[in-house]
Amino acid sequence: MIFALACFAAETGDTPRHAANGSLLFPSDYREWVFLSSGLGMTYGPAATPGTPRFDNVFVTRAAYKAFVDTGHWPDNTMFVLEIRNATSEGSINKGGHFQTGISAIEVEVKEKGKWTFYGFPKGEESEGKAFERTATCYACHGTNGAVDNTFVQFYPTLLPIAKAKGVLKAEK
Ligand code: HEC
Repeated sequence: MIFALACFAAETGDTPRHAANGSLLFPSDYREWVFLSSGLGMTYGPAATPGTPRFDNVFVTRAAYKAFVDTGHWPDNTMFVLEIRNATSEGSINKGGHFQTGISAIEVEVKEKGKWTFYGFPKGEESEGKAFERTATCYACHGTNGAVDNTFVQFYPTLLPIAKAKGVLKAEK
């Protein structure tokens, strides 16, 4: 049984895997994780450019999602993917609004041994992503403004009520 569970974790990529140099191996099955939300025009930092607003789609590993629903906390091995996609309009039958197109960048956030680390996949197609330096803006903005433990639960509509019920929201986020 333990063996079967270990296999499941490896196949689904629910556990972060690293290269020998510490880079994160790209979790290529993230589209099979739990979808939390899409933001439009919320891109920031290096991924932000003027022009048509881009979408970002947020996914979290299934085991971490289940743990959060039960406890309001993110366990070790939690992984988030922020998938940033370009947007366009007036394609096919569409005359207004915006729909998503190709990937602009992918960013991943991992909790290991109680510590969060951010990794970048700037083209969204690399097989390994390097960790951002601890001085990168990611750490300060997330640590200060994320409503629950470094993460922006205030923007994930199915998780916000859970965080409120469990009493884990930081004040005024
Ligand atoms: C100015 C604040 C700010 C900075 C700087 C920032 N982020 Fe975020 N990040 C956000 C917000 C707001 C969200 C909520 C999701 C959205 O944008 O739709 C988010 C969401 C995320 C998520 C999804 C999981 C979560 O924490 O909610 C990842 C992964 C992520 N950012 C990675 C990064 C990386 C990597 C960097 C540094 C290169 C970075 N962020 C810098 C504000 C920031």
